[in-house]
Amino acid sequence: TTERSLVLVKPDGVRRGLTGTILARIEAKGYRIVALQQCEATEAELAAHYAEHEGKPFYPPLLEFMASGPLVAVVIEGERCIEGFRSLAGTTDPTTAAPGTIRGDLGRDWGLKVQQNLVHGSDSPESAAHEIGIWFPSL
Ligand code: CMP
Repeated sequence: TTERSLVLVKPDGVRRGLTGTILARIEAKGYRIVALQQCEATEAELAAHYAEHEGKPFYPPLLEFMASGPLVAVVIEGERCIEGFRSLAGTTDPTTAAPGTIRGDLGRDWGLKVQQNLVHGSDSPESAAHEIGIWFPSL
């Protein structure tokens, strides 16, 4: 069945001028862009988005990084797009993410406390619904 996923182009992706490239790869895969917005994330949005990581060692640098500049929030739609976007994004660590993926082709380790890995994608229908509600309350 058709599903929706919440994608973020993180501040490293926007800073590096990769927003268009990343959106092009999503569209080339065949997913439809339903909603799109560039914004500076608020503390409340980030706390809600990353609630599951609260208390982990990388949580404070993660929130600092995600607030370090504009990000682009996107809702995509298509059959199995949650699983499909995560496959397109590649694994969390950009150093070892497979070539051919967004993280594998465009990301690397910058020697920082938090992994800057260009994109986020929802990991389940439940988290997609939750995350779409955070970034696009009108959807
Ligand atoms: P994301 O998929 O957005 O979810 C949590 C983020 O935290 C992840 O991408 C990375 O940016 C970061 N992250 C996850 N695990 C680690 C880790 N072990 N060390 C540093 N950063 C991490």
